[in-house]
Amino acid sequence: MKTLLVYYSRTQITEKIAKTIQKDLDCDIEEITVGDKYDGTIGYIKGGFDASANRVCEINKVTKNPKDYDLVIIGTPVWAATMATPIYSYLKEYGNQIKNLASFCTCGGSGYEKTLKKIAKITGKTPIATMYLTKNEIENPEENINNFENKINNR
Ligand SMILES: Cc1cc2nc3c(=O)[nH]c(=O)nc-3n(C[C@H](O)[C@H](O)[C@H](O)COP(=O)(O)O)c2cc1C
Repeated sequence: MKTLLVYYSRTQITEKIAKTIQKDLDCDIEEITVGDKYDGTIGYIKGGFDASANRVCEINKVTKNPKDYDLVIIGTPVWAATMATPIYSYLKEYGNQIKNLASFCTCGGSGYEKTLKKIAKITGKTPIATMYLTKNEIENPEENINNFENKINNR
């Protein structure tokens, strides 16, 4: 199964999980970047505002076409109980090209269900696997990651 993992990460927590999964599944990976728009304290506030208002932002050009993949895995931090604005912006543009979806999010401890549901809604796909990692789970994510990968591999 040709798989692409697409993620955004502001402070490298989601990135660390994404890179582990990419290594385990040996799949392609695409990081969504937006320049410094969400850096620092002002960026944090902007991010919370943009996410809760369902705003889109300009994302840098992507290099992989989701249409070319059997499965696209979306990884995002939770922002204001939804996906981070760069991932929302990516999915607004490319979400309808995703054939099969898996998704995961990292967060402090809330908003993960809503986030995963919203990713399913915007892509119009029922995910074949989902995973959320709260602050505590991020420290020892192996079991959750294994379960997530097993669901993908056993499909
Ligand atoms: C703008 C903003 C809003 C956030 N909102 C939430 C939230 O609603 N619920 C939550 O549990 N964590 C929230 N967080 C915390 C992040 O989801 C969490 O720290 C995440 O693991 C960061 O991932 P990253 O390092 O990949 O960016 C928020 C963080 C930011 C920057």
